[in-house]
Amino acid sequence: MKPVELKKDIYWVGAVDFDIRNFHHYSRSPEGSTYNAYLVCDEKNVLFDTVNVHEYGTLVKRISEIIEPEKIDYIVCNHLEQDHSGALPRMVKLCKPEKIFCSPMGYKSMTNIYDTTGWPIEIVKDGDRLNIGKRNITFLETRMLHWPDSMVSYLEEDKVLFSNDAFGQNIASSFRFADETDHKTILNATKGYYYNIVLPYSPQVLKTLKRVTDMGLQFDVIAPDHGLIFRTPEDVAFIISTYKELAEQKPVCAAVIAYDSMWGGTAKLAEAVADGLADEDVPFTMFNLQNTHPSEVTTALADAGALILGSPTRNNMPMVNMVGCIAHIKGLRPQNLVGAAFGCYGWSGESPKMLTEALADMKVEVVAEPVKCYFNPQEEDLVNARALGVAVARSLKEKCAQ
Ligand SMILES: Cc1cc2nc3c(=O)[nH]c(=O)nc-3n(C[C@H](O)[C@H](O)[C@H](O)COP(=O)(O)O)c2cc1C
Ligand SMILES: [Fe+2]
Ligand SMILES: [Fe+2]
Repeated sequence: MKPVELKKDIYWVGAVDFDIRNFHHYSRSPEGSTYNAYLVCDEKNVLFDTVNVHEYGTLVKRISEIIEPEKIDYIVCNHLEQDHSGALPRMVKLCKPEKIFCSPMGYKSMTNIYDTTGWPIEIVKDGDRLNIGKRNITFLETRMLHWPDSMVSYLEEDKVLFSNDAFGQNIASSFRFADETDHKTILNATKGYYYNIVLPYSPQVLKTLKRVTDMGLQFDVIAPDHGLIFRTPEDVAFIISTYKELAEQKPVCAAVIAYDSMWGGTAKLAEAVADGLADEDVPFTMFNLQNTHPSEVTTALADAGALILGSPTRNNMPMVNMVGCIAHIKGLRPQNLVGAAFGCYGWSGESPKMLTEALADMKVEVVAEPVKCYFNPQEEDLVNARALGVAVARSLKEKCAQ
């Protein structure tokens, strides 16, 4: 794969990882990912971000097709998470840059994560500008979007935004630009990335989008550090409006059922809950946590307004996969959900109550009493589980109609 020119003298020099499935060891990337880095050639040659440490060789090879890496004058680090900074120490050694730019919090993380002795680091603050010849860069801090150190870099004359993790998607393909593929693919990947990484910072997303509008910034190109680049007016508008919608988290009239089961009883209850949703014409997705990563459940919440959890009791606890799933979802702080819980038991039977408490703790509005079933579900238990599905569906429909 060759370097790709975004605009005159502005190049993509990143790496495509077709193999990765365990993104950052906390989320799934079923379609691989990319680590985008960008090179701008001007009186000063500037590299925006690097790549994961394993892709150092690819980055150097890509840059070498444009200029000798030693000719890089500046490196801008928009964010120090290792998928973008992993190759930084070797790049600094190779290029001996005149300056390395980062945010104030970026300085703290950079000097902690790496041995930066002798590195020519220069801190840039929110709104600072830098001239590199024909071009000027504005740095905008985007704290907690998604790390304290996060910032974005805007090429004023070219109207190009290097947005780092914002607007990113886990996609590995031969395409570099959003207009080379369809919106559905990009939307799904954007939802997966947003709902598993950016979601807790939705208030910051809305604030940043408003700020950018108030500043009157125009974008010809939005170039994130993962996935495809947006370069047509339609695609730029599409990704901005998608981000606004994702951040707003308006309830969608559909439900997510996530359950675990040892011997199939709770699975039968899950089917009955689904029947109840179907009775009320509420679509649903159902996940058996034995073979589903929590990040898939969270992604599905992008298209739902209800979260229904089911687990049997095992040693006075819900199943381990369910506990992990709850921890994953809770940390991402989804908003505007209704929900309920169910599960089988044999003696103490704490799980459905614990799941209900976990939902309430996540600020999910619990709209039905937990359904508890002794060992193997009988007709009456299935009726109760179906009624739970109906109750959730009705509450959700009411909420969506408001
Ligand atoms: C290893 C193990 C530990 C269990 N611990 C509990 C428990 O602490 N409290 C309880 O009520 N039931 C306990 N049970 C019983 C299960 O909750 C019961 O078998 C339930 O029907 C399983 O539901 P399932 O068919 O969805 O797997 C335990 C079962 C197993 C196999
Ligand atoms: Fe990151
Ligand atoms: Fe990233």
